[in-house]
Amino acid sequence: MKERTLSIVKPDAVAANSIGGMLGIFENGGLQVIASRMIRMDREKAEGFYAVHKERPFFGSLVDFMTEGPVLVSVLEGDNAIARHRELLGATNPEEADEGTVRKLYGTNIERNAGHGSDAPETSAFEIGYFFSNDELHSRGS
Ligand code: CDP
Ligand code: MG
Repeated sequence: MKERTLSIVKPDAVAANSIGGMLGIFENGGLQVIASRMIRMDREKAEGFYAVHKERPFFGSLVDFMTEGPVLVSVLEGDNAIARHRELLGATNPEEADEGTVRKLYGTNIERNAGHGSDAPETSAFEIGYFFSNDELHSRGS
């Protein structure tokens, strides 16, 4: 089933010049970039994005990290895009990520793990709408 997912190249990976490497993995993995923009999130924007984690002990540090520099936010489209993208990202902790995955290649630790991917259709719809309007999504059809 064709789906859309939100992908973020996090500040660590932007700073490490890994945007192209990461998007290449996604494109070679069967996903298409249908929108993309570089932004610098302020704390309010990052807190809203990660609101689901606001009671977690890592929340403050995660917001510090996500606001330390620019990120690339993109919408990826393809068959089972949500699960496929998370498979290409690898486990949240780079130490546990499979060889060849984004987080294994570009991540540093469980916080500074290079990429974000939506985890379900409901979160994907929220996250895409958090950064993009419908007329910014350039789907290239079936
Ligand atoms: O990003 P993912 O869906 O794989 O993991 P999450 O559990 O939804 O956590 C969101 C983000 O919080 C992670 O990608 C990490 O950057 C960060 N995190 C952390 O700093 N420490 C943890 N113990 C778990 C997550
Ligand atoms: Mg998550």
